[in-house]
Amino acid sequence: MDKNSVVEKYERGIKRVVITAEEIQAAIKEAGKKISDSYDGKPILLVSILKGAFVFMADFCRAITVPCEIGFMCAKSYYEGTVSSGVVKITMDLDKDISNYHVVIVEDIVDTGRTLNDIVKMLKSRNPLSVRVVTLLDKPERRLVDFKPDIALFTIPDYFVIGYGLDCAEMYRNLPYIAEFNQEA
Ligand code: IMP
Ligand code: MG
Repeated sequence: MDKNSVVEKYERGIKRVVITAEEIQAAIKEAGKKISDSYDGKPILLVSILKGAFVFMADFCRAITVPCEIGFMCAKSYYEGTVSSGVVKITMDLDKDISNYHVVIVEDIVDTGRTLNDIVKMLKSRNPLSVRVVTLLDKPERRLVDFKPDIALFTIPDYFVIGYGLDCAEMYRNLPYIAEFNQEA
């Protein structure tokens, strides 16, 4: 493919902007205040699940106005046709004991809910002081397991979104806004 057709295909993938950069930042400020208020003075560990949540984590941690630490995990889920949980594979784990921390998981999107359901169970088994989940986006219509994030900045219908860390085949993560992906592209 020549340069023009690569760019054209890329641009065709962006159907429409659903959440602007300004709307994202305003919601992050509000959620950051909620977390800062409720954990003030307590040991917080923000845990982001790579890769999708890296952009959200970068902005969200800067909206936290109380002391906190930051950690990253990389997880892959294998379900092979079942809707049961318990098969999350950690490809990169946290580098410390979490038993003295209030863990706040910082996720990009909750879709079927299986990944976070597994990760929450797994982190709880390590006996942290508490575990809460903050997600940028929630697609409750798609849920396959009973899972509810503690804070969802935006609830969206069932369509595939890209941008602000979220990808389609590893592309579009660097868009500063959230867009609907054009499946025909
Ligand atoms: P779940 O386990 O089905 O809740 O989904 C987990 C992962 O699927 C998310 O962390 C995303 O990486 C990916 N995902 C789900 N929906 C979308 C979407 O609309 N755009 C991009 N990635 C998505
Ligand atoms: Mg993800």
